[in-house]
Amino acid sequence: MTSRPQLFDFHGVSMIQCVTRNWENVQSFQARPDDILIVAYPKAGITWVSFILDLLYFGQSSPERQTSIPIYERVPFLEMAIPSVVSGTELADKLPTSPRLIKTHLPVQFVPKSFWEHNCRIVYIARNAKDNMVSFYHFDRMNLMEPEPGEWSSFFQRFLEGKMLYGSWYDHVNGWWKKKKTYSKLHYVLYEDMIEDTGREVEKLCSFLGLSPSAEEKRAITCRVQFDNMKKNKMTNYSTVPVMDFEVSPFMRKGKVGDWKNHFTVAQSEVFDEDYKKKMNDPTLQLRTEI
Ligand code: A3P
Repeated sequence: MTSRPQLFDFHGVSMIQCVTRNWENVQSFQARPDDILIVAYPKAGITWVSFILDLLYFGQSSPERQTSIPIYERVPFLEMAIPSVVSGTELADKLPTSPRLIKTHLPVQFVPKSFWEHNCRIVYIARNAKDNMVSFYHFDRMNLMEPEPGEWSSFFQRFLEGKMLYGSWYDHVNGWWKKKKTYSKLHYVLYEDMIEDTGREVEKLCSFLGLSPSAEEKRAITCRVQFDNMKKNKMTNYSTVPVMDFEVSPFMRKGKVGDWKNHFTVAQSEVFDEDYKKKMNDPTLQLRTEI
């Protein structure tokens, strides 16, 4: 692929063709009651949580899975549809596992209704907007399937305006937070909490999922999912994906809270903070920009 995709307005959200071209099949996707939907705005840590869930469910029973199937095949990307490549819905339909782990970046209003009808468990991951923005910028630089990011200053502006793939970070994070208040099978994870204490967050995931692995298993999983280990692991570091140019930036880039300080100017941080206060007015949702 040589030319970068263009963003367009899709029911009020900026999207690109490879996530809308299979729309009817996405919307009519038949979920199963034990499916687990893993959701996040792009670059909030969805690969990390996908790997944790995959290890919790299948780490013991099928060790060969861990060395031979990349994480993006174990956990299909529901709305992804690239011509002549098997689509996310097809991959999900063919998944032999039970439960099926399915990934999506969709804002809450676009989730196929079957997931709600079956009362499926959903894990949502949110990351503070400043680090999320920085991570997204570097991802767009290195991933030729993403829209051209342009200069940092224009990317910054676009992020504030919500003209990003999957739309506004603010709408996404707020929309899912609001959903959590009425949908009890939604577990909302914060990236910063995972960095602070991965083991504690694995515990919380287990209790949400109704799993009770041994203390030893939990320790082993917590160790395997640490940044350095996932970065070395070919099945989780995306090194097998040809459209990503790791010389521009690796997929497993820094994995830190606070990297925004290396990118935002003081003026940008002030503009951002002012704008943030206006858009994030639910005091029950607090995302930390440093820990
Ligand atoms: P950075 O670009 O800040 O390094 P996603 O999986 O949703 O695309 O998110 C990718 C971001 O999550 C990247 O952030 C990546 O490094 C980070 N990440 C992935 N696995 C991680 C881990 N085990 N620990 C910390 N951060 C992780």
